[in-house]
Order: sequence, then structure tokens, then C-alpha cells
Amino acid sequence: MKLVAGNSNHALAGAIAAYLKVELTDCSVRRFADMEIFVEINENVRGEDIFIIQSTSFPANDHMMELLVLIDAVRRASARRITAVLPYFGYARQDRKPGPRTPITAKLVANMITQAGADRVLTLDLHAGQIQGFFDIPTDNLFAAPVMLRDIQERFNGDNLMMVSPDVGGVVRARAVAKRLSIPLAIVDKRRDRPGQSEVMNIIGEVKGKSCLLFDDIIDSGGTLCNAADALLTAGATDVSAYITHGVLSGGAVARITASNLKELVITDSIQATEAVRVASNIRVLSIAPLIGEAIGRTAREESVSSLFD
Ligand code: R5P
Repeated sequence: MKLVAGNSNHALAGAIAAYLKVELTDCSVRRFADMEIFVEINENVRGEDIFIIQSTSFPANDHMMELLVLIDAVRRASARRITAVLPYFGYARQDRKPGPRTPITAKLVANMITQAGADRVLTLDLHAGQIQGFFDIPTDNLFAAPVMLRDIQERFNGDNLMMVSPDVGGVVRARAVAKRLSIPLAIVDKRRDRPGQSEVMNIIGEVKGKSCLLFDDIIDSGGTLCNAADALLTAGATDVSAYITHGVLSGGAVARITASNLKELVITDSIQATEAVRVASNIRVLSIAPLIGEAIGRTAREESVSSLFD
């Protein structure tokens, strides 16, 4: 087995390599003067089981192109099997046509990864499970929930806890965790008028006197989360924390979170934390390196990956 890291998240790739007790493959991913991507694999990979670790996070298009070029490089170097490991799969939110004459870019990106030569995909908390079906190659979708659950159990006394989905689309995800914790579930009925803007409408469930845990897959602008936190506090919640897998945190999101009523935002390292995230007083990062490392090890040994979540 060999691990190849793109430039998107060296810290996570290094932690995965440390978990698996292997060295990262020696390769260089550079730019020509006009920003074209150039890749060189500096060691033999012929006949190897290759795992390319690359989150397609900001800058999403550069990181996506890097991934495609890396896949092409190891394919042409006669790798036996190539797994694209996407701790964060950008473009996943474009998984359907929101209106006439719009693309389904998640499918386009899935096609590109497959066409470049990937044999398998390993990813984490896909925005919607059915995106797995966009790939015509085996795709394992891991869940950060066990990592979050452990943290919640360590930090919160189960009494008075309420799991909250910040929108109707996230109910299945939040309900699964609420069930594991044996706590009730509330739902924020969010309406989004324009992309990038969100508006909280209603809270379904009694949150008065409850310590609320918002659970979601992505925090991007932070609008959904901050609005949900405000709505919950207005409805009588005692405090609001949030567990979100992918900290996209674009633009002024970190400042928005820092200035918000959120007690704490907990994210994973699926996307490399910026300096602003590292120093933010109410943002904490959990590592999913052991989870991804274990899944890679099991894939390489042809063992069950789903049993990680039994
Ligand atoms: C939406 O369906 C997602 O699950 C997130 O709630 C959304 O992407 C968060 O975006 P933002 O932080 O910009 O409100």
C-alpha cells in the first residue's frame, strides 16, 4: 500500500500515514508559471495499491485538478489499484438540478474522477448518501458520527440534551446520532431565499431549558448555524453547541462564529484548519485521521469497512 498526498491537507495525510505506520510517497505537486499543475511521483509505484488523499476544499477547482492529475500520474506509472480518498468531497451540494438549465456538478465531478482512472473512492459524510450512486466504481462513505459521539459522551451529561438538525435535509443524520445517545430530536425549519443566505423559520420540538447540539455535515458561511443558534436561544434553549463534519468556513465565517451565540463549534480536520480557525476561541477540531486510516488499512487488506460503524 502507498499513500500519496495532494496539497489540500498535508496535516491530515501525515496523521493518516502515522496511524498506518507508513511513509507518504515521495511526490511533488507544483505549478508552472501560468498555474498549470505539474505532478511527479518520485518513487516506483508499479503494481502498488495506491491511496491518493485529497480534499477538494478551497481552492476547490485547483484541488480537484490536482487530484485528477495525481490519479493520471499513478495510473500511467502502472499502479495496480487507485483509491481516491476525499475526506471532503467538494461540489457534493450540487447533487440535483435546483432549476431549469442548471448542472448536476457532483455527477460531473464523479465522472471526472472515474475517467481519470480511480478504481475506488473513499469519502466522509457525503452531503447526501445517494451521491455514492454517481460513481460507477465502489465508493465507501464513512461517517464522522462515532468520533463526534465519543466527544459528546465525554463532555456532556446526557440529561437535558437535545439533538437539533439545522434544516429539514439533515434530519436523518441528526436522528441517527440522537438515537445512539437516546436523546430527543428537534428540527429547525430553514428557508433559503438565495444561495449563501439562510433564514430560520420555525423550530419543531420543545427546546425550552434544553442544552442543544446542532448536528450537520457542512458549515460554509456559518449563516445556517448562527441563525439556528439564535432561534434556539430565543425559543428558550439554555445553550447551543454544534458538531459539523466539514469546516468549509468561507469568507467571514470564522468571525461570524466567534461573535455568535454558539457555545462551541466542533468540526473535524477533513479540511485543513486555517490560522483563523486554530486561534478561534469557540472552535475545536477533532481528528478523523484514525477513522480514515483504519478504513484505508481495511480496504488494502480487503476487510469490511462498514463494520467500523456497527
Ligand atoms: C445544507 O444543506 C448543508 O447541510 C449546510 O447546512 C449548509 O451547506 C451550510 O451552509 P452555510 O454555513 O453557508 O449556511
